[in-house]
Amino acid sequence: MIESLVKPGIRQIPPYIPGDTAESARRHTAQEILKLASNENQLGASPKALEAMRAAVPFAHVYPDPFCAGLRAKIGRVFGFADPADHVTISTGASGAIALLGEIFIGAGDEVIYCEPTFGAYAGAVRRNAGTPVVRPLTAAGAFDLDAMRAAVTDRTKMIFLCNPNNPTGGTVDPAALRAFVRGLPGHVVLAVDEAYIEFSDDPSASVVSEIAEGVNLVVLRTFSKLYGLAGMRIGYTLTNREIHSVLQRSTGVFVAGRLALAAADAALSDTDFAAESVRVVRAGRCFLTEALTEMGCRVYPSQANFLYVDTGYDPAALAAACKERGLIIRGNFAHTRITVGTPRQNGHAVEILRDVMASGVVPRAGTAPQAG
Ligand SMILES: Cc1ncc(COP(=O)(O)O)c(C=O)c1O
Repeated sequence: MIESLVKPGIRQIPPYIPGDTAESARRHTAQEILKLASNENQLGASPKALEAMRAAVPFAHVYPDPFCAGLRAKIGRVFGFADPADHVTISTGASGAIALLGEIFIGAGDEVIYCEPTFGAYAGAVRRNAGTPVVRPLTAAGAFDLDAMRAAVTDRTKMIFLCNPNNPTGGTVDPAALRAFVRGLPGHVVLAVDEAYIEFSDDPSASVVSEIAEGVNLVVLRTFSKLYGLAGMRIGYTLTNREIHSVLQRSTGVFVAGRLALAAADAALSDTDFAAESVRVVRAGRCFLTEALTEMGCRVYPSQANFLYVDTGYDPAALAAACKERGLIIRGNFAHTRITVGTPRQNGHAVEILRDVMASGVVPRAGTAPQAG
């Protein structure tokens, strides 16, 4: 009965399938669980953030900074804005920013362009607001296809989502082509570039933050979940021009982030040692895993993120299930297998398990597994 009362756009939202948690896997086995399924920071959280959260705990009864002004100003300074707080809006992770953008800009029938496969929250934001998804395939290298998206723009286009590096493939677009894409946007289109993983890219020019300017309808999404290891605190932010920021800021609620999340994010931003080490570990691990998996006969997509998308030749769901039996949680609900880059020890252990499982003969080849009926 209640389903019939729910708005059609919300009714269509498919359930989100999260990566298995280590806690749930531990309930079924005594062995050590290695979770490389949700692209979390395998070094843990920034130690400075942990310390700041501990210091904030006694003040849990006091409301936090209502508009997150302190953190906004600090982030804005990091990016070199002259009027720092006026370019930054804090959100409940980058996911919260995607939902907010959808709520603000997408109306019934508005066309929203993105490529697939990608992060599912864009489709969710479109459906939730009764927009019309206009979906194009990724390039063969697993990046968003700028030419196809530009060709898809019509008078009815309201938004474009661009995930760079893309989840689940890790592919990035050419920085110069992306800049040209941003500059060529028509005035009735808002472009959201999701840079949740950009800090792991080898190319410092990959980010489009430098393109933010008055009159340019560009919103860049960032998160504390990945580089700073704060996925559990649910805090992220948008960077944009003053005009768009003022719309976002007045649309977002007060107290969007709790006291612990704000303290953690503030301290993490100053923890440049931890951030540098996280980047170093991911880049080295990405190379190690790419080489090891390629040697095993897999096709590894070129990744600039903290995960790899891998065509192992085996059925991804069956492979993930067999790995889980051996204590390794990876993602098996895409067309290919996705695995988060870990520490050197974790990566070595993951390769051993994958090699054993693939040699065991228990996992069906891709395309031969029975489909759920
Ligand atoms: C591309 C992309 N954007 C955004 C997010 C969400 O991040 P957050 O934890 O900040 O909500 C994720 C999470 O995995 C992601 O892969």
